[in-house]
Parts: sequence; C-alpha cells; structure tokens
Amino acid sequence: MKVGFYGHVRQYHNIKAEIDAKMQEVLESGEYVMGPMLKRFESEFAAYCGMRYAVGLNSGTDALWLAFLALGIGPGDECITTTNTFFATAEAMWIVGATAVFVDSDPKTNCIDPTKIEAAITPRTKALVPVHLYGQCADMKAIRAIADKHKLFVVEDNAQAIGARGKDFKIGELSDAVGASFIIQKNLGTFGDGGAVVTNNPEIERIVRKLRNHGSDKRSVHSMGYNSRLDDLHAGILSAKLKHIDEWNDLRRKWAARYTAGLKQARGIVLPYEVPGYRHVYHLYVIETKRPQDRDKLLKYLNDNGIDAKCHYPIAIHQQQGYPWGKGARIVGPLTNSERNAACCISLPMYPELTEAEVDYVVAKVLEWDKANS
Ligand SMILES: Cc1ncc(COP(=O)(O)O)c(C=O)c1O
Repeated sequence: MKVGFYGHVRQYHNIKAEIDAKMQEVLESGEYVMGPMLKRFESEFAAYCGMRYAVGLNSGTDALWLAFLALGIGPGDECITTTNTFFATAEAMWIVGATAVFVDSDPKTNCIDPTKIEAAITPRTKALVPVHLYGQCADMKAIRAIADKHKLFVVEDNAQAIGARGKDFKIGELSDAVGASFIIQKNLGTFGDGGAVVTNNPEIERIVRKLRNHGSDKRSVHSMGYNSRLDDLHAGILSAKLKHIDEWNDLRRKWAARYTAGLKQARGIVLPYEVPGYRHVYHLYVIETKRPQDRDKLLKYLNDNGIDAKCHYPIAIHQQQGYPWGKGARIVGPLTNSERNAACCISLPMYPELTEAEVDYVVAKVLEWDKANS
C-alpha cells in the first residue's frame, strides 16, 4: 500500500463543485486583486476566528513581519520564540531587523515553555511570539501574564492551528495579532500561497492593510509599503474551504485518536501529548523515537514501505548551517527539548481524507518496526 503525506487532490475532488463555483464567480467578476471576494473572505475568516479583523496577505511569513512592523518592531528590538519551528517564525523577525531570542520548548507539547521566557527578557524585548506547533495552542494564559507583567506585545504564529483552541481561551483574544498561513499544506490551505493577520486592534488592521498595498489606502496616494495581497481566486478557494474546516479538523482528530490507540503499545516511541481541555487540530501527527539514533531508521522503514512520513522539523533553527546569517540572534538557556524534538520527530501522514485502511497500515508498519527494534 502507498500512503501519501497530503490529501490535496482528494480534498479538491470531495468539494470540487464548491471550489469550481467560487473560482468561476471570481473569473466572471473581472476583479481579481483587492476585489469583492477578498473582502468577503476576510469578513468570513474574521467571524470564524471570533475576531474583529482579518487582512488577507500573500503568506503566513508576511503576516508575521507585517504584524511586527505594525507594532513598530524593528532594529534594536528583540522578539522571543523557539527554535523547533518552521524557519519563517525567526525569519520574519530578521526581515524587520529585530533580534530573534530563542528559549526552550515544553518537553510535552513542544510549544514555547513559558517558564523559560522571563530569563530572556531585557529592556530591548518587544514581543513574545509563541507558535501553536503541530496544531495545538501554546500556553497563552501564561504567556499573556508574562507579557502584561513586562509590557510586551504578543504575536501568535498560527500557521498550523486554525480551528484550535485552549481550555479557556481562543486564538487571538490574548494577543495583539495573529499570523495565519493558508499555504496548501496547512489545515485551511489554498492551492498556492496565502496568509492573514487577524486582530481586534483597529490600528494594527489599518497599518497592515495599508502596508500590504504599497502603503496605499487611497488610489494614487502612497507611502512606503509592499505588495502582499491575497488574490481573489485564493480568497474564493479559501471561502469554499472555510465552511468545512471544523469537520476536517474533527477528522484529523479522529485519525489522531486512531493512531494513538494503535500505537500506545509501542515501546520505542513517544506519542503526541494533548493538553487536557485543548482542541488540538493535528496539523501534524508527530511521534518521537525515544532514541535519536532510531529516528532515521524508522523514517526509512516507513518510506521503504510506501508511507510518505516526513520530519517537522529535523534541523532546529539554531542548528541550521550558517546560523544566524549575520542577523541578530540570542539563545537563552539550554535548548534541550527543542533539540530532542528536532532529533527524534517523525510526522505520520495526517489529513482529513485518510482512510481507516491507510491509518491502520501506518500503525502496523510502525509497530512492526518497533517490535523488531525496541
Ligand atoms: C510555524 C510556521 N510559521 C510560519 C510559516 C510561514 O507560512 P507561509 O509558508 O505561508 O509563509 C509556516 C508555514 O509555512 C509555519 O509552519
């Protein structure tokens, strides 16, 4: 059997009529950039998030750095995050000229460990940037409390957890701004690139809206800005998909539960941890081998058996060659957990359109390897 890592084409086929209708509507409208479909999707997405504003952009990376710019973050400022995340979290800080400060992650959730943050705060610290890694919220209550105590901004990197929530908080309500990504492989992904800043702050919304369009909010009147607009075709695709996001996240949770039930007897691997009361939306289902030296062996075994397992992220940012590329960077304390996560992680296939037979096949192959090697 072959099990792919993504189900993009299956997803398209399942809701083809809805997506095709939206694309047709945009094509027939004659308005493809900053048109009515973008406006419509922005209000639908803001409503879905339970927030006042969403500004459509061309990527999740831009969402982060445009939010930083809107908050006045730039050279001389520091932002605190983790290194076991996608590169763009730190890259966005470097794009605006800020220093990325890295602290360790929580050993169970792999999100930022709030108990490590205060030691990294200096008079230059401007923002905390938690990543809702793999589809589970970081501990936003603890993060907000630290931000309040030290008068810091909070920008949530929510590339991976649209539709997730904490036990008694939702994404966005405890921060200044949220950066969302709509690149195809995310839980809400268009057939290409896309992103958004989501916020309750009208000033952030106003500035990001202007920056994304060459510093312009009035025809022919410009100030310094960029071109980072979400195209109407993508907005239409996302509008069609948004109606299904909760049902798709439920399916991801169902497959995660099936993986967890099937794999709990394995001796050589650690399964994902779900914080009680949180809605984890399993952008990725990430297991870890107990021994780092086993990771590549298990990964190869799965790949050799037709299973497209991958790693997110096998080289932590501070371990990438050339780090930090002449940019401002500071590591505070040992990064033991982030390094373990990078060394041991394997992402099993995870998407709503998986079948029971595919999940069971993956479980069987992991168990087969585990029995022979643990
Ligand atoms: C944690 C994280 N942050 C930021 C990004 C950047 O998003 P994009 O690829 O849309 O620029 C991604 C994904 O690609 C991500 O996973």
